[in-house]
Amino acid sequence: MDGNGRWAKRRGQDRIYGHRRGIEATKTTVKDARRMGVSYLTLFALSTENLKRPRRELEALFNLLRGYIRQEIEQLVENGVRLRVIGRTELLPKDLQELIAGALAKSKNCRKMTLTIALCYGGRDEILRAAAKAMRLKKKSLDEKTFSALLDTAGMPDPDLLIRTGGELRISNFLLWQLAYTELYFTNTLWPDFSGKELRKAVKFYQTRERRFGLTSEQIEEKSQF
Ligand code: FPP
Repeated sequence: MDGNGRWAKRRGQDRIYGHRRGIEATKTTVKDARRMGVSYLTLFALSTENLKRPRRELEALFNLLRGYIRQEIEQLVENGVRLRVIGRTELLPKDLQELIAGALAKSKNCRKMTLTIALCYGGRDEILRAAAKAMRLKKKSLDEKTFSALLDTAGMPDPDLLIRTGGELRISNFLLWQLAYTELYFTNTLWPDFSGKELRKAVKFYQTRERRFGLTSEQIEEKSQF
């Protein structure tokens, strides 16, 4: 969800104002994705690197997250949305950890969509933590399936589509393992301007892609006949 700071700066406002507008875009995007029938939506809200941002900005982000969970959790549950978090959430303020734990419990039986929020998240960090888990469990051998099950995203399918807003053409340490065959969509739109219209545009782009997973077109065609 990149571009909040630039969005605010262009309007002569503080970065925090941009994050506040970013939350509005988050709320509408979650609702639009649910309406469109998306089964898994994962939002990169805070990276391990973002934790080094000025204290004031971090506090504002934590407050926005608190507000989001408090205001939205009932509606999310009503709409069948299960909340999940990935990342080193133990680095978050205690009260926020508790608020998140409560929201996870409330939504645990929801099955229509899984909304995953990446917090204090870094792809390399996640891979290292999974490798450390494998060592602790004294795994004699590892394949992709057993390693995936040690990641924060255990049990979730790999993403079909990645949308990066804000005009940067990079992955920035997001879901490094899981994105191996994901279709990538980049837009110059800054996150606070992101909308259902943009989401539909990204999905349209996705629908034009042929996903071969390393195979040939002919092999994919053959497979789809069964
Ligand atoms: C990147 O914009 C955005 C962030 C670091 C924070 C995103 C977080 C939220 C929108 C709020 C919390 C999320 C949820 C799910 C409730 P930037 O500040 O790097 O923008 P810039 O690249 O223009 O400076």
